Amino acid sequence: MSKSPSLRLDRLLANLGYGSRREIGLLAKAGLVVLDGAPLRDASQRITATPDLSQRMVVDGDPLDPPPGLALMMNKPLGVTCSHKEAGPLVYGLLPERWRRRDPALSTIGRLDKETSGLLLLTDDGPFLHKVISPKSKVAKRYRVALDRPLKGDEVMVLGSGSMLLEGEDKPLLPVEMEVEDETHVVVTLHEGRYHQVRRMFAALGNHVTALHRDRIGGMTLPTDLEAGAYRILSEADVAALFGEAPAA
Ligand code: URA
Repeated sequence: MSKSPSLRLDRLLANLGYGSRREIGLLAKAGLVVLDGAPLRDASQRITATPDLSQRMVVDGDPLDPPPGLALMMNKPLGVTCSHKEAGPLVYGLLPERWRRRDPALSTIGRLDKETSGLLLLTDDGPFLHKVISPKSKVAKRYRVALDRPLKGDEVMVLGSGSMLLEGEDKPLLPVEMEVEDETHVVVTLHEGRYHQVRRMFAALGNHVTALHRDRIGGMTLPTDLEAGAYRILSEADVAALFGEAPAA
């Protein structure tokens, strides 16, 4: 994660969506912003937004929302979209209402299609986002795929060849690993992320994807106890697992 910023209390809380700087000034004056047990009545004082601030600061009786530098995993359900350009409810609607007013805003790290479920990362931390998507980080993504028609038999070889071309593209795909579960269920691991890649790969192979679920990014697996639509803040162990440094606890 990036270094913790230091900023005025009113700016910090306004950026977290608690209201205007004026409103926050009034909240502070009323003794409703408390740090380490003592009210902070001067909203102009500078605060370092360390990751533990939510455990130390109380706003109007509740722990402070997570400070900037937030990174989450979500179990994206079917039927919600990652993009404001697509019709339908957005993944951001599954987060607390105030989080939608944060600045910097939360955005998804890459996207899943509306009809794809599973592990989705979100962050407000630009350098973290870029690190995850950078080819240098070699963060692979794993998908469980259900197919309309039985496999023909050459799919592992074609996908693994590193020479497959998707329609409308002239750069071949990087080799894709594929494990066969049965004749209509496979698990694929991608080392890049092209638009609708899994669906387009199987269309190019003369098949059709009927269900798609991402269950792993880098070394981080979607926890079995994270229900569809639920999210949680990434722990240090999650981030280490993501970049393949250690298995997640
Ligand atoms: N490939 C797809 O086709 N869709 C996704 O959502 C992710 C990968």
